[in-house]
Amino acid sequence: MSDKDDRPGGVSRRNFLKSTGVAGVAATIIAPAAGLAAQSGPKTLGPGEVPVRLNVNGRQLDLMIEPRVTLLDALRMRADLTGNKRGCDRGACGACTMLVDGRTVYACSTLAIDVQGKTIRNVDGLARDGQLHPVQQAFCDKDALMCGFCTPGFVMASVGLLEKHPNPTPEQIKKGLDGNICRCGTFTRIFEAVSSVKGVQRG
Ligand code: FES
Ligand code: FES
Repeated sequence: MSDKDDRPGGVSRRNFLKSTGVAGVAATIIAPAAGLAAQSGPKTLGPGEVPVRLNVNGRQLDLMIEPRVTLLDALRMRADLTGNKRGCDRGACGACTMLVDGRTVYACSTLAIDVQGKTIRNVDGLARDGQLHPVQQAFCDKDALMCGFCTPGFVMASVGLLEKHPNPTPEQIKKGLDGNICRCGTFTRIFEAVSSVKGVQRG
């Protein structure tokens, strides 16, 4: 191979190969140091299953799940708590709405691992001793559902609203439920149902 200066910048092919060889060695030496720096950063979990402890409807649930698993999937697929539904799976419909420390969350967009140590409630835990929760009863009394797919999410959003505002104004009801969609169009009946509920205690 000719060692002729054949590059516009005057670097010969041989010298260029020599210099990249040195750079390669340097990279090899530097790599472990970079690896050490990465290890001293935040602790990473997964990608395999890790232990996750959840407090759901007053019960402790110990699960082995991947860190990427959502609260909705953890409860539906691993704990047989299938009351709340998966509609859009992207935080747009509200069918998966649950309460975490009294606040409504989209369970499809919440990682189970992130709500450890918090109080989680889904629709499966609302009825007590065979008695429907007052909000569930109101939905039945006011005929506030058709196919019922959105209902668990609406019920949980309504419970969250009524625990915060026991006598909500129409504006508060509309705002409290504006993250939920009913494709069957039962909004008027849902509004009547929520307006009719009195005396919801904080759960
Ligand atoms: S399924 Fe969670 S918002 Fe639609
Ligand atoms: S009752 Fe069918 S989507 Fe609401």
